[in-house]
Formats: sequence, structure tokens, C-alpha cells
Amino acid sequence: MKQLRWGMIGGGKGAFIGGAHRIAAKIANSYEFIGGVLDVDFERAKEFALEENLDLQRVYPDMDSFIRGEKSMPSNQRMEVVSIVTPNFLHFTQAKKLLQNGFHVICEKPVTFTSSEATELKELAESNQLVFCLTHTYTGYPMVREMKRRIESGAVGTLQRVDVQYLQGWINPIIHGGEAKLATWRLDPAVSGISSCMGDIGVHAFNLLEYTTGLKVKKVLAVLNNLKPENPLDLDGNVLLQFDENLTGIIRSSQIATGEENNLQISVYGTKGGFHWEQEHPNELKMLHEGAPFEVIKPGYDFLSDFAKESFVLPPGHPEGIYEAFGNLYKGAAKAIRKMSLAPGQFPGIDDGIRGMRFIESVVESHRENNTWVSL
Ligand SMILES: NC(=O)c1ccc[n+]([C@@H]2O[C@H](COP(=O)([O-])OP(=O)(O)OC[C@H]3O[C@@H](n4cnc5c(N)ncnc54)[C@H](O)[C@@H]3O)[C@@H](O)[C@H]2O)c1
Repeated sequence: MKQLRWGMIGGGKGAFIGGAHRIAAKIANSYEFIGGVLDVDFERAKEFALEENLDLQRVYPDMDSFIRGEKSMPSNQRMEVVSIVTPNFLHFTQAKKLLQNGFHVICEKPVTFTSSEATELKELAESNQLVFCLTHTYTGYPMVREMKRRIESGAVGTLQRVDVQYLQGWINPIIHGGEAKLATWRLDPAVSGISSCMGDIGVHAFNLLEYTTGLKVKKVLAVLNNLKPENPLDLDGNVLLQFDENLTGIIRSSQIATGEENNLQISVYGTKGGFHWEQEHPNELKMLHEGAPFEVIKPGYDFLSDFAKESFVLPPGHPEGIYEAFGNLYKGAAKAIRKMSLAPGQFPGIDDGIRGMRFIESVVESHRENNTWVSL
């Protein structure tokens, strides 16, 4: 099958997540990397492009020249799909330009600065019949997908409690000044948005929760912690969740949980049993039973759901990880662009982006209003 002509905005030399996108695109085996606006610094972008063997004619200094240059190409050469891997404040304007000009978009989270901007992107994607994939990476893991399908089929009964945590510690040495100030755009509201911890990682926890359970959080009550008065954004927080009357939950998230690496975990409990999954051990899904030992479910086996089975390639005992999870989102986006049939849940989209932004807005509002309940 012909490769999709693919570009990137950001993600050049030294960028954190851009490289993971390129590996994901390779794993998906559906994308040919053509060019883009690869760096805020055009000279560095060109150096990087040479390392990647890209045609310098397809490497642009800014979005406007990208749009002009690509639109002047014959349609069978023009880039078709573009990934946005820039800091948060750029996502909205860059995605808007791409959608207005006919490019499918793969975008990093948080999708925008506000839910109304995300709603605008949804309208643009729909009216132009373009695919919008939001890279909530963790939805690509086979065992997360297995949990989703099993919850849908009623394996643990009716859910009555959900518990998600996302704990990191990397900002701790920065905030206490013991380490040279690293790339901390995440602490700058003009670049990061209205939240650091909840906007950067709490939103992943929220997405994972709604993705796996299929439920919608109705209200939140948040207590956030900025740690120091001079720091304008939250670094840590606890968020109570209310779904329907008989289902509650919690999201605990932190960037100052000293010593933690990327400790994302989800537990859900139903009337018949539960599930527990940890991102740092992604190939083990624990299924909990009342009055009996738990089971450990792993990838590679025929007894798994079709959705989980299409999400790994290697036999049991050959661990796949975050790149393959990312690759699964890219595979889903390629199928959607090619108008192939899609099982539900193949990749998060702009609706998840709107939900994520409502989560961030509601959490910040709840904290500001002395920890009152706020509806999403
Ligand atoms: N899905 C995930 O798990 C995950 C993980 C990490 C980061 N992210 C998200 O990815 C995005 C990027 O984060 P990062 O940590 O890679 O950032 P980064 O600072 O490491 O890289 C940002 C890149 O954007 C480029 N850039 C900046 N301004 C630009 C402009 N005007 N035009 C073109 N390029 C520009 C920079 O040169 C750099 O290449 C953020 O939105 C972040 O939240 C997601």
C-alpha cells in the first residue's frame, strides 16, 4: 500500500517526544517522512533534515511558508498528514492552519489551551472531513485495550470505584533549585497553559480512565499544590471524581513525587471484580476476583480480544513497549485516513481533546473556588 506523505511540526534535534513519533510512524509502516517545520531554529532544522536525508525544499522556517510551499505542490506530492509535536501554546494555531488547508492532523496533548479552541478544531476537522488523532500514548498498549474490551463485555460487572495515579518526580530538583534549570517550559503559563501537573500528565490519567471504562466524569473537586508561591502553576494535585450516583473515583498526580519515574497506574473495581494496570509494567494486566486469586493477563496469546491481538506483533514473552503503543495510534490514524474500517477506540481524537481540556479547566476552577465541585 502506498505510504502516506507525512510531515512534522517540531520534533527536531534534541526534542523529547518527536523521536518517538518517528519511530511510531516507522512501526506503523504507513508513513513516508517528507519534511515540515522541524525546529523553532531554522538552521538547526536544516541540519537535522540533512541527517534524516530529507529534501531541504520540503523543510520550512515557519507555518505560513509550509502551507504556501506544500499547497503549491501537485496534490499527488503534497504532504497529506502532519504531526504537531511542539510546546502546548502552539498546538491550536498550528492545527487550525493545517485543518483549514486540508491536512490530516496528529497532535500532541494537551490539544489546546482551552476547550473552546478544541471545539473549534473539531468543527474544522469535521467540516473538512479530516482525521484528527490525539496522541494519548497509553491507549495504544495491548493490555490497556484488553482491559477496555473486558470492561465493555461486563467481565467485572458494574463499576463502583476507579482510582488512577500518575506520579513523576522530575520537577523536584528543578523547583528546589538544586539542578540547573532544564527545559522547564512546562512551568511557564504562557507556554504550558493554565496547569503544569494536571495539564501535562493528569490529563493522560483522565483520558486513560475515560478510555478504558467508557464512562464520562461528571464533576470534579480538586486540591492542587504549587509548592512555592513564586511558581504560578500546579505541580501536584488530588482530584475527586463523581460519575453517576454510585460511582466515584480519584486521580492523584504529581511532578514532585521524589524518585518516581513515570508511575501511571489505573485500578477499576466492579460488582464482580476489578483490573489493575501499571505503565511501568505494561505487559501485565491484573484481573481481580472476589474470593479467588488474581489472574495476570499478558500479550501474545490467542485467548485475548481481537483488539488486543491486533496491538502486538511478537509471541508471548517478547516484551513490547511504549514505541509499539505509539505505533498503534499511528496505525489507527493511517487506517482512518485511508477510510478503512476501524474497531472503536483505535486512537483518541478531538472529542477526547475537548474532554481533556474540560478536565483541566474544571480542576483549576475547582481549586480556585476553594475546592468546590465543578461540572465538566
Ligand atoms: N504523549 C506523550 O506521552 C508526551 C510525552 C512528552 C511530551 N508530550 C507533548 O509533546 C509536546 C512537545 O513536548 P516535548 O517535551 O517534546 O517538547 P520539546 O521542548 O522537547 O520539543 C519541542 C520541539 O518543538 C520545536 N518548536 C518550538 N517552537 C516551534 C515553532 N514555532 N515551530 C516549529 N517547531 C517549534 C522545538 O524546536 C522542539 O523541536 C508537548 O505538547 C508535550 O505535552 C507528550
